Amino acid sequence: MSANAARVSAPNDLEAFWMPFTSNRAFKKRPRMIARAKDMYYYTPEGRAIIDSSAGLWCANAGHNREPIVKAIQAQAAELDFAPNFQFGHPKVFELSSRLAALAPGDLDYAFYTNSGSEAVDTALKIALAYHHARGEAGRTRLIGRERGYHGVGFGGISVGGMVANRRTFGTMLSGVDHLPHTYNRAEQAFTKGEPEWGGHLADELERIAQLHDASTIAAVIVEPMAGSTGVLPPPKGYLKRLRQICDKYGILLIFDEVITGFGRLGAPFAAERFDVLPDIFTFAKGVTSGAVPMGGIMARKHVYDAFMKGPEHVAELFHGYTYSGHPLACAAALATLDVYRDEKLFEKAKAMEERWMEAVMTLRSQPNVLDIRTMGITAAIDLASRPDAVGKRAYDAMETGYHDHGIMLRITADTIALTPPLIATDAQIDEIIEKTGKAIRSAA
Ligand SMILES: Cc1ncc(COP(=O)(O)O)c(C=O)c1O
Repeated sequence: MSANAARVSAPNDLEAFWMPFTSNRAFKKRPRMIARAKDMYYYTPEGRAIIDSSAGLWCANAGHNREPIVKAIQAQAAELDFAPNFQFGHPKVFELSSRLAALAPGDLDYAFYTNSGSEAVDTALKIALAYHHARGEAGRTRLIGRERGYHGVGFGGISVGGMVANRRTFGTMLSGVDHLPHTYNRAEQAFTKGEPEWGGHLADELERIAQLHDASTIAAVIVEPMAGSTGVLPPPKGYLKRLRQICDKYGILLIFDEVITGFGRLGAPFAAERFDVLPDIFTFAKGVTSGAVPMGGIMARKHVYDAFMKGPEHVAELFHGYTYSGHPLACAAALATLDVYRDEKLFEKAKAMEERWMEAVMTLRSQPNVLDIRTMGITAAIDLASRPDAVGKRAYDAMETGYHDHGIMLRITADTIALTPPLIATDAQIDEIIEKTGKAIRSAA
């Protein structure tokens, strides 16, 4: 806005912020403000407590404003604000990489950093293409994603992703992309706890796709081990192992997008460990810093890294990186977060809590308009029947009344409510989440 045309703005004018993934007009009419957070709770500017049923956006796995993490960020800001990781490096980024390599299964020992999950996905896809190129198989350019996959909002991620609303408006996207079918079938799977019995055979669709395109043109397959943002779709039994087998058969890289499933969400450091399937690359973000500082990245197996380590030593082996890859503040936050996970045994706690959590979530089955509930690890999705001619309105109403009337933050996509609280939740706080979610669903009946 030019100085001449300056809008007279009140100190609390909400107009100028174009909010992401938000119904801006509705929000600005009746805002849901968050001013402060501690552990399991958010607080409104008036000081009203709002229990966090979604770990922010599936990221605050250690809870909010944890003292060791806050202190680490403060100390780091005072010591080293920024250092380039292009041709230089600072100690914490190496320390963090060793810690992540120790935490990740198998030989997933090499970390490359980004600032978000979307960038992590782009990075994984680019490394897959460059890997084949480096090995003399430059013809492997196709990327295979999955329907109902969510891989963030970059052009790579929306191309391999299968979230229709995310694809509708953005043109043709990447070429040479195909999709596996999604694995959800309500008739076969409704109200399943954990991995559904039905659907493992859907991995064989990769065989069909490999035949159709000629397997030697396919670089990588990318899937979320458990689809999160499109409504918590746990993998059917045997599905991921079968994907791994088919990828091995045809020399295709398998990429797991662990942006949500990483850092204890499924009761293990990473879903790769829980499902005992080793991908060639996996992405991470969110829980790596418990959401306190933006950070994402990928872990690659040794054979992937080694494929690049050739040629003249003064030449960068991978032409890729972000100014803020491995930012000192993010590294300090991540190291402190990993300490909290270790010291409080939060991954083990999540595993121990899973059965009780799944039982508690399933009690919501008796609420009005509930069509299905899926749950695994410390996640759950509740599908509500849509209001006639207003898809998404019922869950929106539940979210709104949840904040204003029942003291709970609910995360919604269309008419699905996703529950993914911080892993520090006590039994009483889980009960509070279930009770308040029930109230919000009833208010939206
Ligand atoms: C599986 C997955 N990949 C990627 C992303 C994108 O992450 P970001 O929003 O940090 O770009 C998300 C975000 O929810 C995600 O769930």
